[in-house]
Amino acid sequence: MGQSSKMRPQLLRSVAIIRRRVGHGVSVSVIAVALVMSGFQAAAGQQAGEEHAAWPDALVMANRSRVTSAKDFEERRRPELLRLFAENVYGKTPEDTVEVRRTVTSVDRSALGGLAVRKQVTLEFTAHKETRDLHLLLYLPAKASGPVPVFVGLNFDGNVTVSKDEGIALNDEWVPDPAEADVQLGTELKGHFLQKATEEERGKNESRWPLEMILHAGFGVATVYAGDIEPDMAVGIGYGVRPLFFKGDQYLPAANDWGAIGAWAWGLSRIADYLETDPAVNTEEMIVIGRSRLGKTALWAGAQDKRFAMVISNESGKGGASLSHRGVEESIAHLNLAFPYWFSANYHHFTGEQQKLPVDGHLLLSLIAPRPLFVGSAQDDPYSDPQGEFLSVAAASEVYALYGETGVSADAKVELDKPLGNELRYYMRLGGHDMRAEDWKQYIAWAEEMLKKK
Ligand code: GCU
Repeated sequence: MGQSSKMRPQLLRSVAIIRRRVGHGVSVSVIAVALVMSGFQAAAGQQAGEEHAAWPDALVMANRSRVTSAKDFEERRRPELLRLFAENVYGKTPEDTVEVRRTVTSVDRSALGGLAVRKQVTLEFTAHKETRDLHLLLYLPAKASGPVPVFVGLNFDGNVTVSKDEGIALNDEWVPDPAEADVQLGTELKGHFLQKATEEERGKNESRWPLEMILHAGFGVATVYAGDIEPDMAVGIGYGVRPLFFKGDQYLPAANDWGAIGAWAWGLSRIADYLETDPAVNTEEMIVIGRSRLGKTALWAGAQDKRFAMVISNESGKGGASLSHRGVEESIAHLNLAFPYWFSANYHHFTGEQQKLPVDGHLLLSLIAPRPLFVGSAQDDPYSDPQGEFLSVAAASEVYALYGETGVSADAKVELDKPLGNELRYYMRLGGHDMRAEDWKQYIAWAEEMLKKK
């Protein structure tokens, strides 16, 4: 990979940066050896003249030993990374299961003008005499001749917002008040006001879910409103699934318990459980997808649950695909201040201390190797740090290379609308923070390419 052929100049550049910081009295070789020993590689971004804390090397264990093969990565580094992310970032996903009842509430075999079979299923989870309902909305191509690949993703504002399809049941749970939708930090701190879904909401986010395009291409779509799993607000925990897993007289999460992103990721796996019971779904071809906070979620779900054969993150930014060690754009401090409930309590230790974080976006991506992974950025979405997402893909490419799969070299030139890499793909489009039909066009073409290779 281009990444490893760049190691030497990168190392020298890092040494130069450290010398400037600590003074020139220290010898070059001492610093170089310390850098290699410390397990922190010189960051690829420094090629562009950037200075920032180096991020942890994907192929160096916490005990400094090197990972040399895919088998080694699989047996030692992968479990270590999963532990580090659980302990420091997203919190631990409970291993216990809770009782679930699955009820198919409606099936329409000629939905969307005959294009789709629409199924709605309630997944009812019960523990401690409390119940939480996840409402699954599933579209499958009506004319499929066998089990189909399915995109699995959460939606932000309720199932009813995904399409104007009048058959979608109005969510009887919480949805955010649209009047609050565009208000930034202030309101996010206060939390959204809660209300029930309304008819006016129908299809309001349909541009993010181009169902016709997806179904015509032969793919299905499975989605649940993230708020069914846990409403996206500071006091959401009380309405979500996390308390179902409390132990004894526990009433607050422990420092390394999961946050809302962990719970949302768990929800994605529960959708996969259901899909495994549906013969119309090709369970070898489940593709987990998400945008923004739900892109962070899709990555964490894909990292933990190998049943997701492919993973797509759209503008997942910091706390997702991007690199916090770069110290640009959204800080860990902002993530923890604005959304204190997204991550584990332990993640708060890294507020203002991002250089101490033992993991970062590239390691989250590495956990998905060698499964196909698509990282999409948007040029006018600086807050997600598209360059950080690109560098993260380049760094994770080292891990994909171990498995013989193709990623992206840190030397590659990012051009608009020109995807880079194969199994590990990076793509940047023009425009802002959004999920658009043009994004889906890329995802579908790439997924078709990957499925053909199987
Ligand atoms: C906020 C947040 C980001 C997140 C984004 C989103 O901007 O700071 O980290 O990705 O919301 O989910 O849209």
